[in-house]
Amino acid sequence: MMAIAAVFVSYLIGAVSFSYLMGQLLKKLDIRDHGSGNAGATNTLRVLGIGPAITVLLLDTAKGIAAVYLGFSWSGGDPLFAAMAGTAAVVGHNWPVYFGFRGGKGVATTIGVMAVLVFWPALIAGTAAIISIVVTRYVSLGSLLFMSGTTLLTAALLPVFAYPPVYLYFLAGLTILSIWRHRTNIKRLKDGTESRLGQKTETSS
Ligand code: G3P
Repeated sequence: MMAIAAVFVSYLIGAVSFSYLMGQLLKKLDIRDHGSGNAGATNTLRVLGIGPAITVLLLDTAKGIAAVYLGFSWSGGDPLFAAMAGTAAVVGHNWPVYFGFRGGKGVATTIGVMAVLVFWPALIAGTAAIISIVVTRYVSLGSLLFMSGTTLLTAALLPVFAYPPVYLYFLAGLTILSIWRHRTNIKRLKDGTESRLGQKTETSS
């Protein structure tokens, strides 16, 4: 019963949209009406600047970390509920009950979830993603690289680290969800119209 409650509470934690709150707090604007229209750290950088963006990134990541620990703690250490709670936080971030179910793409929250569940694959893929972002200045591409890289590395290293196999299903699910949430970014990447870091845009989603 407590384990199921952890999943529900994790959704509610994930649904706290820090980029939306930051926009309201600093400029009384709805972040979803500006820049890419996404309620996330990257768009906070475009619309509000570096300080608010780093704050949003850390807080959104913390939601994923908190959810996984909550899942572990309230289930007596069951990896299934830890993964479910983490996934619920990402779902909450993407479809927040408090903000009309219009949220973000779940990247920062997924970073928190993956970093706790599978630290080494997440660290390696995260390093590759950061290099990719520095070189290309496409955050969306780096985000997708992080998700898919972490999942593939986890699959490859499963016997080495003895991760619970159930993690792999949730990582794959989170990666597929992220690809779907980034579908307009993927189209823009293909078309060569995706905005790069430091570039002003008024595209949508
Ligand atoms: O955090 C989501 C990122 O991968 C892309 O964001 O605003 O460029 O669509 P955005």
